Amino acid sequence: MRWRSPAVLRLQLWLLAVSASLAALGVLAADLSKEPFTIRISCGSFDDVRTEPTNTLWYRDFGYTGGRFANATRPSFIVPPLKTLRYFPLSDGPENCYNINNVPNGHYQVRLFFALLDNPNLDSEPIFDVSVEGTLFSSLLLGWSSDDEKTFAEALVFVQDSSLSVCFHSTGHGDPSILSIEVLQIDDDAYNFGPPREKGTVLRAVKRLKCGSGKPAFDEDLNGIHWGGDRFWLGLQTLSSSSDDQSISSENVIAETLLAPNFYPQGIYQSAIVGTDRQPSLSFEMDVTPNKNYSVWLHFAEIDNGVTAEEQRVFDVLINGDTAFKDIDIIRMTGERFTALVLNKTVAVSGITLKIILQPVKGTRAIINAIEVFEIIPAEKKTLPQEVSALRTLKGSLGLPLRFGWNGDPCVPQQHPWSGVDCQFDSTKGNWIIDGLYVL
Ligand SMILES: *[C@@H]1O[C@H](CO)[C@@H](O)[C@H](O)[C@H]1NC(C)=O
Ligand SMILES: *[C@@H]1O[C@H](CO)[C@@H](O)[C@H](O)[C@H]1NC(C)=O
Ligand SMILES: *[C@@H]1O[C@H](CO)[C@@H](O)[C@H](O)[C@H]1NC(C)=O
Repeated sequence: MRWRSPAVLRLQLWLLAVSASLAALGVLAADLSKEPFTIRISCGSFDDVRTEPTNTLWYRDFGYTGGRFANATRPSFIVPPLKTLRYFPLSDGPENCYNINNVPNGHYQVRLFFALLDNPNLDSEPIFDVSVEGTLFSSLLLGWSSDDEKTFAEALVFVQDSSLSVCFHSTGHGDPSILSIEVLQIDDDAYNFGPPREKGTVLRAVKRLKCGSGKPAFDEDLNGIHWGGDRFWLGLQTLSSSSDDQSISSENVIAETLLAPNFYPQGIYQSAIVGTDRQPSLSFEMDVTPNKNYSVWLHFAEIDNGVTAEEQRVFDVLINGDTAFKDIDIIRMTGERFTALVLNKTVAVSGITLKIILQPVKGTRAIINAIEVFEIIPAEKKTLPQEVSALRTLKGSLGLPLRFGWNGDPCVPQQHPWSGVDCQFDSTKGNWIIDGLYVL
């Protein structure tokens, strides 16, 4: 038996929607004279917490739709030293969220750190999916807790309705758990990978490497500023274990850093990896999810004392065999030594590897200072807000058991719709609508 949503209800709710969408017009531009809007939540905590070494403030837990609190075990040294987490047993439903309201419209770096339940009777490393604003952006994979880089997930997302939702979707492998949520405003134009400007995309940070230094660092450790978010840079001394790349570094001040829209700290340019006389090219390879688009950002500064003028180091950049940049001559392009150069390229990857080769064409061996890779994810369109609130009312009046969940958006992410709800995409409105409910 099916229940159709009555037309009257839909009309009433449509009127509501008109007023709501008028309010949502106009996205604020970043005002750099101000500090960016920032919220940090220590999940499962009853009190606000401050953490060393930067005296960072984490608010006590709020905005969650369910779950329990527990003591946390940090799986990695890069995870903030917080003591509690929130976890979502299946009995609380397969979908649970944090809904954070009063977030000024704009562009945000949303970062989640994961941790394990401090319980010796459980050896479980939960595996689950994470979405932001209805768009699935991260799937934890087996072994995540023993890989520093996989103990957090980061998405760049536009907030357009003054609220931000982050949802955790059970995949039937343990209880999703979350240590902390950071919502850090960044420039509206940050990581703009080229015209046309798309608010309809979410960027997932896949990799951030600081080359030539083995020490990992956050922007904060590198004297970055808050408008840069607080990026995590993994330190790397060689690009591949089979090559004998060399590390170089410099204490010199680097020009053209801390500039809009990405505000890179100079520390990422003060070290580099260079090729050798025997192997002058550099090659970097990483595993990726196939059939996705990636945005690749490459950072250079001429910090090598052996290179002092144009034409002394010229190289091409190939990504998966295609020439991404030709004849890169850092000094010619920046005009000076010790000056930052940032290049970005969008590439479609059909296979499971992304391979970057820096191939000298003139002069000495290749150089690279830092690499960033993002997955470009088309943002999901949400369900018509009035239909969502109608379903919420229904959830209350039916007294649905907690285990149904019904948190977040009913239709998206498409991989995790609410159970018992039939969704259909209305291409004229550009939203999902509820086509019906089936008996639960
Ligand atoms: C968490 O650990 C503290 C001691 O550090 C202990 O007093 C408390 O009972 C623990 N809480 C839970 C929920 O296990
Ligand atoms: C990224 O590359 C595009 C295309 O080449 C360019 O238009 C854009 O300005 C670059 N963005 C930044 C922030 O450098
Ligand atoms: C990748 O980008 C191309 C060109 O913009 C687009 O047609 C395609 O749908 C994108 N692929 C994915 C998986 O998003």
